[in-house]
Amino acid sequence: MAGKLWQGRFREGTSKLVESFTASIRFDKRLYRYDIEGSMAHCKMLSHQGLLSSEEEDVLIQGLGEILREIEHGTFVFEDSQEDVHMAIEQLLIEKVGEVGGKLHAGRSRNDQVAVDIRLFLRDEIQGTDEDVKNLQSSLVAQAKANLGVVMPGFTHLQHAQPVLYSHHLMAYYEMLRRDRQRLSDCLGRVDVSPLGSAALAGTSLPIDSRLTADLLNFPALSRNSIDAVSDRDFIIEFISAAALIMMHLSRMCEELILWCSAEFNYIELSEGFCTGSSIMPQKKNPDVPELIRGKSGRVYGHLLSLLAMMKGLPLAYNRDLQEDKEPLFDTVDTVRQSLRILARLWENVTLNKERLEKMALSGFSLATDIAEYLVTKGMGFRQAHRAVGKMVRFCLEEGKELEEMTLQEFKGFASVIAEDVYTILDLKKSVDSRNSVGGTSLQQVREAITLAEEELSS
Ligand code: ARG
Repeated sequence: MAGKLWQGRFREGTSKLVESFTASIRFDKRLYRYDIEGSMAHCKMLSHQGLLSSEEEDVLIQGLGEILREIEHGTFVFEDSQEDVHMAIEQLLIEKVGEVGGKLHAGRSRNDQVAVDIRLFLRDEIQGTDEDVKNLQSSLVAQAKANLGVVMPGFTHLQHAQPVLYSHHLMAYYEMLRRDRQRLSDCLGRVDVSPLGSAALAGTSLPIDSRLTADLLNFPALSRNSIDAVSDRDFIIEFISAAALIMMHLSRMCEELILWCSAEFNYIELSEGFCTGSSIMPQKKNPDVPELIRGKSGRVYGHLLSLLAMMKGLPLAYNRDLQEDKEPLFDTVDTVRQSLRILARLWENVTLNKERLEKMALSGFSLATDIAEYLVTKGMGFRQAHRAVGKMVRFCLEEGKELEEMTLQEFKGFASVIAEDVYTILDLKKSVDSRNSVGGTSLQQVREAITLAEEELSS
């Protein structure tokens, strides 16, 4: 292959050490499709502006099309000496079509070129990630719907708090993921901006039409400052931070799946296809998938921090440090999308141990708040009611009985306003159903939440 495209002012060749240290082609080759798409748009614009003849435009577009096919069929091999995907493609174009290939880069720099490539890439990946989140939401809603009515213990401090519907618990994750999707869509608005035309940093003296290039690439907006356009990567950091929040939500969900399938909880069973075994303990069936997702959340947080640190001291405009944006970005995209996809499938492989859930929902004096609220309806102040029920719990602990096993006489000993009707509230389903405040755990509220979610998912 001929010398480097920037070789002109150099008398010496590049040291092999430097070549391999500075090359980004090993990872940025992933951007080839977007690089070619951007070059095609730039080429059409140059021709429209009279900076290329239409014959030259045809030759370049055809050459770029051929390169795309060769890369796709694996007949073109990227090498370190080509430095990066942008130079590799341009150099190949020149080899293919001759001198005219060198006309493509007029009015453009690798600095705005790399920015456009990442924006095109990220635009697609954000849309894909959104689809993946949506599919996980659908899986959760399907589970919530299929098990509507099953009661489980609701926790605070990982201690039994109040009974809740299992579906209500799952729909909590639906809501988190809904906000994750809002964040992605918000971030997309700032990614979807064309930097092309900013050139190295100052714009260009050539009569280019940046709006035309933006239109050809379906960018609704144009960058407003050429220095900003080539030097900031805030849109990547924003995406990784949205991804880090997604991973945080997935990690919590995975933590619960792992706990729930332990012998101690025994709430759910994961199908064998979604578990793995141990090389020494023959009896083991391990929840490695949720464990790995929980573990992988750490690397996405790491990528967020590495990019913030990489950017913080950079003077304007482009600096080579910015090349370090790609590996964290690519790994984030891969990690979050894989995790979302496998979790959506995993939920289809969860079997619920309903008897166990309902048995546990009743234990731990989980109806204590119901009695306190019952006392409030009988006119007692809440603090006083709270104290009275606390004493009942202490009494039950000493007597080794449950609240619903207390006699009316015993109840009256703690609060004289208690009547026979106290037993009607001491029932799991009734307890759950009584929490009918907006967003509460009653059957009616949860059914409405599921219907709303189904509408949102189908639009
Ligand atoms: N490989 C470079 C990057 O990823 C492309 C831009 C290089 N520009 C330059 N002036 N050296 O950032």
